[in-house]
Amino acid sequence: MGVKEQYRDYVMTGFVKRVEPVVADHGDGALLYDVDGTEYVDSFAGISVTNAGHGNRKIIEAAKAQADKLVHACSYVYFVETVGELAEKLAEITPGDLQKTFFCNSGAEANEGAMRLAKRFTGKMELVALESSFHGRTYATLSITGNSGRKMGGSPYMPGVAFAPTPYCYRCPLGHDGDPEKCGIACAERVMEVIRLHLSGSGCAFIAEPVMGEGGIIAPPDGYFKAVKKILENEGVLFIADEVQSGFGRTGKFFAIEHYGVVPDIITMAKGIADGWPLGAFISRAEIADSFQPGDHLSTFGGNPVSCAAAIANIAFHQEEDLAGNALRKGAKVQEALKELAKTQPLIGDVRGKGLMIGVELIADPQTKSYGTAAAGFVREYCLQHNVLIGVGGNFGNVLRLQPPLVITEQQLETVVSTVADGLKAFAAR
Ligand SMILES: Cc1ncc(COP(=O)(O)O)c(C=O)c1O
Repeated sequence: MGVKEQYRDYVMTGFVKRVEPVVADHGDGALLYDVDGTEYVDSFAGISVTNAGHGNRKIIEAAKAQADKLVHACSYVYFVETVGELAEKLAEITPGDLQKTFFCNSGAEANEGAMRLAKRFTGKMELVALESSFHGRTYATLSITGNSGRKMGGSPYMPGVAFAPTPYCYRCPLGHDGDPEKCGIACAERVMEVIRLHLSGSGCAFIAEPVMGEGGIIAPPDGYFKAVKKILENEGVLFIADEVQSGFGRTGKFFAIEHYGVVPDIITMAKGIADGWPLGAFISRAEIADSFQPGDHLSTFGGNPVSCAAAIANIAFHQEEDLAGNALRKGAKVQEALKELAKTQPLIGDVRGKGLMIGVELIADPQTKSYGTAAAGFVREYCLQHNVLIGVGGNFGNVLRLQPPLVITEQQLETVVSTVADGLKAFAAR
């Protein structure tokens, strides 16, 4: 039986909108090869994970060396050197006084743990999240996710969650014209109203992605998080920055929140942390972290020694190669090219993002900005047929997502942009 038949008969995949699957075999930098040797330029990095590139030898060797010594001990029952070293490193690369880390296995688990810590520290129980957000697939993380498409069929969700409007200037939910200078970032003010009007005086945390990923690459306007943080401090509510997708150089800084000059109370991370080895984490100030009491939290596999060794080598590689700087420079060029394309391509409504976390929002009609969902699906498929891998996001599936490994070359990026441009032309010419 071939792998396609095995997947059909034995792997649960009903939740994936099926295009012809690529049977991934091996990778090298931003290139991915299938089992037949076909080469793809990967502009999605396994959903924004392999930031340091596929097949990164330095990271693989570090993981192999650790695997030869010890694969698992339970890093909370026993102490493991790679765990201590990685935790110290994370305190160094995260902003401000964030210091103590809890390690787990995924982004959803990191967000679960961060919520638990916020409840423990504040003694309060309710949360504010953003509309259009995505925080994971567990019960609690779906409860704070602001996207009904992801939540469908799983209700009733956790009580004590309220949603504030998305800082989404292209489609301002408050009816402003998308100029944050003019609106005074009214959506930040709304966070205060949501805390005061929708909660019962028991808000422990506000959670947000500094650049929203699944919601369609939405980067809030410049002053947004500063204004929100001030409100949260006044209200005694913690700020959890979900950097699961936006972290590890993706947006041109180690962590996307650094663009906004704000230090969150807790940062959650996963995906890019170890270039593909499974690992999640959240970091907090010592004062908050120390509020955990015996029995409050643990994870059998959390802080796996091999994943931690990979993460240490991954961070070293990021620093040596200035991957965040690369993302900033290369991302700016890609956005420039796409904005140029938008001048003659009416299917493009908006080009946005930071670094190499870029969204191209497609519209069916420039007057009404109706969602270009069919176009986005078509272009993704066209790219696949032409050996380029891209993602699609947004609540209505109309945003092309370019999130390649940060080691991608300029030439490979040119291939991505020209293939997207050709795909848009082909859709328009149908
Ligand atoms: C912002 C954000 N948070 C959390 C998650 C969940 O991460 P995981 O799939 O590792 O549980 C994701 C996954 O896409 C994400 O983008």
